[in-house]
Amino acid sequence: MRLVQKSLCALLVATASLALLYLHVWSPKPYSTVDLRNRPEQVPEQLLGGHLLGPANKYAHIPFRLKEDILQLLPQNSCTCEAAPGGKVPFAKQLFSQVYAQDFAAAFSPEALAQLHASREREYQSYRQRTHSPADQLLIARANSPLEYPTQGLEVRPLRTILIPGLSLQAAPRMQYKVTLTATLGTFAVAAAVKGVKAQGEGEPQLSLSSPQLDNINRQLQFVTYTNTLFHPNTADTVQFATDGHQAFFTVRIRHAPTPKLYNPGSTGDGGDYNITALVTIATKTFLRYDKLRALIASIRRFYPTVPIIIADDSQNPEPVQGPHIEQYFMPFGKGWFAGRNLAISQVTTKYVLWVDDDFFFTPRTRVERLVDVLERTSLDLVGGAVREITGFTTTYRQKISVQAGGPEGDCLQTSQGYHHLLEGFPACVVTDGVVNFFLARTDKVLQVGFDPRLSRVAHLEFFIDGLGTLRVGSCADVVVDHASKIKLPWQKTESERQYARFRYPPSADDSVSVKHALFYYKNRFKCMSGN
Ligand SMILES: *[C@@H]1O[C@H](CO)[C@@H](O)[C@H](O)[C@H]1NC(C)=O
Repeated sequence: MRLVQKSLCALLVATASLALLYLHVWSPKPYSTVDLRNRPEQVPEQLLGGHLLGPANKYAHIPFRLKEDILQLLPQNSCTCEAAPGGKVPFAKQLFSQVYAQDFAAAFSPEALAQLHASREREYQSYRQRTHSPADQLLIARANSPLEYPTQGLEVRPLRTILIPGLSLQAAPRMQYKVTLTATLGTFAVAAAVKGVKAQGEGEPQLSLSSPQLDNINRQLQFVTYTNTLFHPNTADTVQFATDGHQAFFTVRIRHAPTPKLYNPGSTGDGGDYNITALVTIATKTFLRYDKLRALIASIRRFYPTVPIIIADDSQNPEPVQGPHIEQYFMPFGKGWFAGRNLAISQVTTKYVLWVDDDFFFTPRTRVERLVDVLERTSLDLVGGAVREITGFTTTYRQKISVQAGGPEGDCLQTSQGYHHLLEGFPACVVTDGVVNFFLARTDKVLQVGFDPRLSRVAHLEFFIDGLGTLRVGSCADVVVDHASKIKLPWQKTESERQYARFRYPPSADDSVSVKHALFYYKNRFKCMSGN
C-alpha cells in the first residue's frame, strides 16, 4: 500500500513538473490576426521611389555597426537542417515527439549522387529560365532624377498597343529639351503630334522627342504609345527612359489575360444557405476497406443526401459501390495513394472538393457549410477541419512550412507545428501552410498543384510542400469529422485489413521513405529537412 502511494506521489510530481514545463514552452504567443475577407478592389498606395543603394564610395568614411540579430534574418544561401528547437530543451523527447533532421543526400552512393546532383542542377537552371520574368528584376528609381515614369503596373496584351501613363520631364531651364525611350520587345509611337516638338523614330524601338519648350515636350509625353511586336504569352519589356545625363527603367508587362476557370455555384437554398450539392464534391480514395467506405457513405447521406461522391479504387478485387450521385473509378491494383487522390480530384466538376479518407465518418459536427463559408468569404484556397480519433483526441495537424536557400547543394525544408495568424471574422480558424487530410479546397487550385502519383504509400504533407506559394491555406477547429479506429489487435483483423496493413505500412518502410527522400532531393531540390 505504502509503495503504491509513494509511486503515485512520484508520478504526480513528475506529471506536474512536465505540465509546468509544457506551459512554459507553449505559453500563448501573440499571434496577430489577419483579415483575408474579400472586399471591393483596393488601389494600392502610390509606390515611392526607393533610396536603397547609394553610390558605394560616397559614404565610405561614415562608421557603422552591424546588427547580428538582424543580419541573421537575411537569406544566406547556406542553410543547414538541425533538429531544433527540441534539442536544447529538457524533456525534449516528451514535448516534441518527433524532433528530427534528415539528410536526403545520404540516401545515395557517391557516384549516384554526383550524377543526380548534376542532372538536378541542369533541370533547375532550365526551370529558372522558364519561370524567370524581367518583372522580377529589381529596379531603382534614383532620387533627384528629372524623369517621371510609371514604376509598376503597366500591362499590354501580346502584339497590342497601350498609352504609357505618367511620363514627364522636370528639368531645369535650358535651350533644348530631349528625352529618349528605348524598348526591346516593341515599338513606340505618338497618338498625337504636339506643336513645337520633334519626334524621331516613330514605329521603332527607340523614340526621341525634342523641343525648346518644356511644357510642349510634357504634353507630347502624354501621347506616347507602346506596341508589343515580339509575341510572348507572358513576359515583360524593360523600357529605358532617358534625358541628358539621366536614365530610368520601367517594365511593361506583356501577357494574355489569364483565362479564368469558373464554376457555377447553382441556386442557393431557401434561407439563402449554400447549396452544398451544387458547390461541393466529396472525394476519397479506397483500397480494400469496403466496410469502412460504406459506413462513410452512409454517414454522408444522413446529412448530405445528394452531394456527389467520387471514389478512386485500386483494390485487387474491386467491389462495386453503387448508389445515387456516386462515381467509382477503378485503377490498376495498388496504384497508390496520391495517384488515387489525383484521379478522384481530376473528375470533380464543382467549385469545391472536400477530401476525406475512406475511414472517416460524418457526424452532426461535420458541417461542410462552415468550410464553404470560409472559402466563399475569404481569399483562402484550402481550409482544413479537425479529425477526431476514437480516443476522443482531436487534431487539426497545422503545419508551417518554409524553405531556406542552400546554394548548389540544394535548399533546406523546415516544418513546424502551428500557424501564422488568426483569421479575422472566423474565431475558430487560422492561416497556416499545411493541414490534416480532411479539407475543403477550390478545385482549380488543387488541380494546379496536383498530387504526385510517385508518392504511392504514406504521404500527405508533400502535397502542401508542392503547393507552397500557390495555395493559401487555412484551418478551422470547429468542423470535425470522426476517424474510425486505427488501433485493432492483430487477431481481430480481417484478411483484407491484414492485406491493407501490408500495403499501407510495408514491413520495410524504407522503400517509401527513400522514394520520398529521392523526390525531395531531385524534384523539390532540397538537400535536407528538419522539423518537429
Ligand atoms: C442545389 O443544386 C442541385 C444541383 O445543382 C439542384 O438539383 C438543387 O435543386 C439545388 N437545390 C436548391 C434548394 O436550389
